[in-house]
Amino acid sequence: MMLIKKLVVVGIGLIGGSLAAALRKRGQCEEIIGIAQTQETCSRAEERGVVDRAYTQISDICHELGEDDLVFIAVPTLAIKSVLIQIKSCVADNVTITDGASVKGSVYRDVLDVFGAEPVNVVLGHPIAGGEKSGVDAADASLYENHRVILTPFKDYASDEVARRHVTKVRNVWQAVDANVIEMDIDQHDVILAATSHLPHVIAFSLVDTLANDTHNENIFRYAAGGFRDFTRIASSDAVMWRDIMLANKEAILSSIDLFSRNLSRLKTTIENEDATQLTGVFTRAKAARDRFTLMLMNQSYSSKMKNIEEKQITYKVSPGGNARGTIRVPGDKSISHRSIMLGSLAEGVTNIQGFLEGEDALATLQTFRDLGVVIEGPDNGRVTVHGVGLHGLKAPSSALYVGNSGTSMRLLSGLLAGQTFDSTLTGDESLSKRPMNRVANPLRDMGASIETDESGRPPVKIAGGQKLHGINYVLPMASAQVKSCLLLAGLYAEGETTVTEPAPTRDHTERMLQGFGYQLKREGSTVSLQSGGTLKACDIEVPADISSATFFMVAAAITPDSDITLTHVGINPTRIGVINILRLMGADIELQNQREVGGEPVADIRIRYAPLQGVEIPEEQVPLAIDEFPAIFVAAACADGVTVLTGAEELRVKETDRIQAMAEGLSTLGISCEPTADGAVIHGGEILGGEVESFGDHRIAMSFTIAALRATGEITVKNCANVATSFPNFTDLAGQIGISLDVIDV
Ligand code: S3P
Repeated sequence: MMLIKKLVVVGIGLIGGSLAAALRKRGQCEEIIGIAQTQETCSRAEERGVVDRAYTQISDICHELGEDDLVFIAVPTLAIKSVLIQIKSCVADNVTITDGASVKGSVYRDVLDVFGAEPVNVVLGHPIAGGEKSGVDAADASLYENHRVILTPFKDYASDEVARRHVTKVRNVWQAVDANVIEMDIDQHDVILAATSHLPHVIAFSLVDTLANDTHNENIFRYAAGGFRDFTRIASSDAVMWRDIMLANKEAILSSIDLFSRNLSRLKTTIENEDATQLTGVFTRAKAARDRFTLMLMNQSYSSKMKNIEEKQITYKVSPGGNARGTIRVPGDKSISHRSIMLGSLAEGVTNIQGFLEGEDALATLQTFRDLGVVIEGPDNGRVTVHGVGLHGLKAPSSALYVGNSGTSMRLLSGLLAGQTFDSTLTGDESLSKRPMNRVANPLRDMGASIETDESGRPPVKIAGGQKLHGINYVLPMASAQVKSCLLLAGLYAEGETTVTEPAPTRDHTERMLQGFGYQLKREGSTVSLQSGGTLKACDIEVPADISSATFFMVAAAITPDSDITLTHVGINPTRIGVINILRLMGADIELQNQREVGGEPVADIRIRYAPLQGVEIPEEQVPLAIDEFPAIFVAAACADGVTVLTGAEELRVKETDRIQAMAEGLSTLGISCEPTADGAVIHGGEILGGEVESFGDHRIAMSFTIAALRATGEITVKNCANVATSFPNFTDLAGQIGISLDVIDV
């Protein structure tokens, strides 16, 4: 079955001719009829086989058309009205009519003028594709492949069955030529296109015109190189088409030009004033945005291993067996990387960071502070330079702050933003949008903050600025470093003293780093307090390797006979070494070598060799000290002799996913008896079989099942691994280096 019987292309140029060629190539329509202004174009289109027959008037063929046919209007925007008038006079109202104009508001007004209403058979659209060549000879059957087509159907079409059918038909036609179809409303379309397409054309045309005519050197283009060529390519697009677009989308284009002109003159002043920091700000922000766009074009996300993190589907196929040997350094600590950007931004002076984790979560924090007006250079091989703006120097962001998968960013930022003079909104990805935020919102409200979440306490978090905060004395209901840190950051802006008491020790990187930045802090037992009114002084930070990432390779060596791994420069802060304590309790052979202190944090090289493991009852006081390491510890328990019992770990149920459930399900699939309980699990050591497990998009679950393959009897397939890049962008490379044999499959 062909999609349509007759396709009528009005205007047989690049846009119309290419749809004709694409449908013909795919055998999706019986006959193609062209309408062109001149007999010459008609003959050329017939000769080239772009159309079967061609005419100069629609009235020559309109009596032939019926409900299986489609008319595609592909003439310059301002010529559309006269085509609509001809269509109205003779084309039956069961024939589907669509168009390809780059502006939709003006075409919509033309439709209303001509038809007096919104005709059910008219579906406005815009294929986002084009080229510098024009005319019938430019027709290209692959022009629309993998390009977007935006349809802007009339508002109420969904409630009208006939209108719906016409929209579906147009959608099917575009999909048949391998375009990606999306829907949008007309005004939104015109504003977006004004900014991203029409404004760049204005600038490119104007720049080339300026250089070609207003400079006194005729030969100037001779000296121009690749940059000029890339930047001005679009200035050889069809002049009439672009003239029409400017006139048709005048209002939206004028506001884009105004915005750009303001920014350009600000940049001019910055150059005049030789303000190097602000210049760095403009260029680093632009570079980061363009790099992200480049990755988007390649369908990738921030870090180079990743596709668009919310869309990408990655599966790991891990071969069974092998052993784990070698010396490696895992990337920088995630918690410390977040905090280095936050405190560096709030400090006075320039903070140089080394060893920064270039994973999605920490990059989300970095981008957020750029959005808050901080000039940040890098990251470049773990080096980042933050030009601090002081505690009161952040600027209002122009839109919601998106922090991806990162709970740490959202919770810590909530405290910091609660103390600002401006409003802000924090949003996250699907997983983060399900995580509880009342644990920070409630105590912040007690401090006088104005914060809204959704009705179940989940993101988005909306924070009203300009509130007067006051210190509180807060006893944490759960052991959470994120909540503790959030309140301490809010405390920097609160009148009086902010005091936080924790039920069990949790990671203290915020406290250590605040002190490193010269901020006074009182620490007594499980209580920490600070007063507002101080300042942070920029300093240099060396981020140690992340013990949470090192854990996967520690467990890999601990469970696999004949293994011997050394992990260098790992942070061994006493509030983070629960995993070492628990593995040692199970019988693991772990040596801490070369212990030293770097920038206020203890580090060591960790050597771990295989030794048989025993099941244990995990001491509850170790739970907060190993909170992120349990997915891997579950794997160690599965490989141990006897039973391991975990209790007091209900927090695991509200991590990136419910980690108790996710590990219990996966281990059961692999033949291990693992009974989940409300606050932990009972894991019986046994033989790990091959099988397919789900990571539920949780990075640590994905990496844990990957290392389990070392002891498995068959291949383990781990689904949904894209988020590994949130904390450990080069995990698969390092896993390969130490002897795990793994294929990454981009689904
Ligand atoms: C973190 C604290 C922990 C941890 C998270 C990072 C931090 O969360 O799970 O990955 O950087 O403060 P909780 O404090 O909520 O337990």
